[in-house]
Amino acid sequence: MQLNNRTYQIQGVNVLDIADEFGLPLYVYDADKIIEKIGLLRSSFTGTPNRGVNLKIKYAAKALTNISILKLMRQQGVEMDSVSVNEARMGMLAGFEPSQIMFTPSGVSFDEIREAVALGLQLNVDSLPLLEWVGQTYGSQVPISVRINPHISEGGNIKISTGHADSKFGISILQREAIRELVEQYQIPVAGLHIHTGSDFKNASAFLRGADVLFDLASDYPNLTFIDFGSGFKVAYKEGDHITDVAELGRQVSEAFYNFCQQYGRDLELWFEPGKFLVSESGHLLVKTNIVKENPTRTFVAVDSGLNHLIRPMMYDAYHDIKNISNPSVPGEATVEKTYNVVGYICETDTFATDRSLPEVSPGDVLSFENAGAYGFSMASNYNARFRPAEVLVYEGHPYLIRQRETFEDLLRGQEIIEFEEEFVK
Ligand code: LLP
Repeated sequence: MQLNNRTYQIQGVNVLDIADEFGLPLYVYDADKIIEKIGLLRSSFTGTPNRGVNLKIKYAAKALTNISILKLMRQQGVEMDSVSVNEARMGMLAGFEPSQIMFTPSGVSFDEIREAVALGLQLNVDSLPLLEWVGQTYGSQVPISVRINPHISEGGNIKISTGHADSKFGISILQREAIRELVEQYQIPVAGLHIHTGSDFKNASAFLRGADVLFDLASDYPNLTFIDFGSGFKVAYKEGDHITDVAELGRQVSEAFYNFCQQYGRDLELWFEPGKFLVSESGHLLVKTNIVKENPTRTFVAVDSGLNHLIRPMMYDAYHDIKNISNPSVPGEATVEKTYNVVGYICETDTFATDRSLPEVSPGDVLSFENAGAYGFSMASNYNARFRPAEVLVYEGHPYLIRQRETFEDLLRGQEIIEFEEEFVK
């Protein structure tokens, strides 16, 4: 989003016009930003002076699952990572071949695994009981990958750190022998090894430590075709945030991967499954200010949204930059700023921001929560019987509606209403 002539614009389209046309609250995504991030990731791993590794990007669809976004990914040559059969089905609706979709379930039922295999997804096995079941059920028929927990504590908030010893994800690297024995017993074809240490990690060194664990483990499996390093690249939620330097990561990981392939004796594919990195910055949650309320200790800005639309601030204490689209702060000009608590309309303490300095906010002003593309809409709910927002994608300078605003019928869909015979009488 750029400030041009005192108006915020996305690809030259005035954001206030988008708000007028589609109504609020509204998620708006900038396709150019997504395309830029894909390009950055690719050039970091495959461009000179890197080793030109065989990179595959598998977009973690859980971050933002709208089918038009999935289609954009496919159009850009990106493949997909899914965590449920339904996500995978959405990918197939977007045109992905099942074989392009990684399926990384955590603790799901064997029935769902059966469905995934029947669809032809690439199954990533996350526990020893599942590995045994796969061996008993499919023997040598279904090539799998194995998700390893490398015991590396990395990532932002503890809720999104997944590679430490106490995490529920993956098979512990200490159970290496047990994995090998089951694979041998049932002749399970192991095509890939996988780790995902957590979301919001900053340093390439954690990645390299994880990579070393897999490179070492690879000697147990001579027929690998890929290694999947998961994702978790941190994005800048705040100016000056320490983020993952993807170019540096690309240099270091592609060098290490190249050396590993030499030693392994075969060119493997290097996979990543970024969610946040690809879509976070592209997304803006536009909301309208309902009330500005001055209490003795605080001034509250209450907006027509809440934890039902963007739960990250409440769930992870995440910081989201807020812009007053109706009253931009223009560089070089004095702006009256005030300090606010920005809160939602849900019957909970759904605080988006505490003591935030913003250009003066008046009722009716449109605010934008920035970096809302990842885990924004996809974690939204109907709590308090509220509608989820509509979604718009700006593509080649044109805003397209990619999800309609919900209606009261959507809230009732699926409810079976009991007709009680008698009214309760006192
Ligand atoms: N691969 C696997 C196996 C994952 O579990 C995840 C995220 C990803 C890839 C993508 O990670 P990313 O690049 O988006 O960091 N709701 C949280 C993030 C939860 C991440 C869950 N798994 C948030 O809003 O920060």
